[in-house]
Amino acid sequence: MPETIEILVIGDILGKAGRRALKEHLPRLIDQQRLDFVVANGENLAHGFGTTDKVAAEMFNIGVNVLTNGNHCWDQRSFLEHIDDDDRFVRPMNFSRFAPGRGWTVQETAAGYRVAVINLIGQVFMGAWDCPFEAVEQALAEIPDDVHAVLVDMHAEATSEKMGMGWYLDGRASFVYGTHTHVPTCDEIIHASGTAYQSDIGMTGSYHSIIGMKIDGALKRMVERLPQRFEAVERGASIFATRLSIDPATRHTVAIERIHIPPAHTPQ
Ligand SMILES: [Fe+2]
Ligand SMILES: [Fe+2]
Repeated sequence: MPETIEILVIGDILGKAGRRALKEHLPRLIDQQRLDFVVANGENLAHGFGTTDKVAAEMFNIGVNVLTNGNHCWDQRSFLEHIDDDDRFVRPMNFSRFAPGRGWTVQETAAGYRVAVINLIGQVFMGAWDCPFEAVEQALAEIPDDVHAVLVDMHAEATSEKMGMGWYLDGRASFVYGTHTHVPTCDEIIHASGTAYQSDIGMTGSYHSIIGMKIDGALKRMVERLPQRFEAVERGASIFATRLSIDPATRHTVAIERIHIPPAHTPQ
């Protein structure tokens, strides 16, 4: 058995561009970096809006172990019926009590390590959700004691709220990280407690865009303030991800490293 669990955390995967880049690179990364576990945020998998079982299967087939979600969770209405079919899907724990799906999952690696993944959504600039701090207490109380790592996807806009969650879970989670802004931050840190933190993993999608959407429509909406169709950019994705080594005996993160794989060609 290896001494550490090697984990890759991927942020929001944006549509076909993001899926295509991961299909090209993830199997090699898993092999070369001897990854035990991969978690990614799937809220933008389907053309930028939500998840379907078909696009989720594409990601599971190339080595993603768990797909978290966010405010776009129900953009594809069919996902309401499918989320309960597979325990590799998680959605924010602090959605309303009427929401289908689960807020945490535990999955086992090939080496027999049990990895818990909790998904939360912020309240600042994000809509009316239940309290993520109360929700995470409930999740931690429900998760079995014998897990070897605890990962927390805090899907939120405000860095302050994400940092708040990082400190709230100090010493209780292996990694607290942000998703949703589609922009990576370079503030990764391992606290003295062994809890690692990063404000946002960043999008895996095209950065020749406005957070993954075609520039013209998104810009027109800002300038003219009239309704516009948002369309996902379908090519030229960068992969942003964060790699962690976690000590299964203590659940502490012992190493953290950001990974950036740029597109082969920068669009003109
Ligand atoms: Fe997103
Ligand atoms: Fe989001």
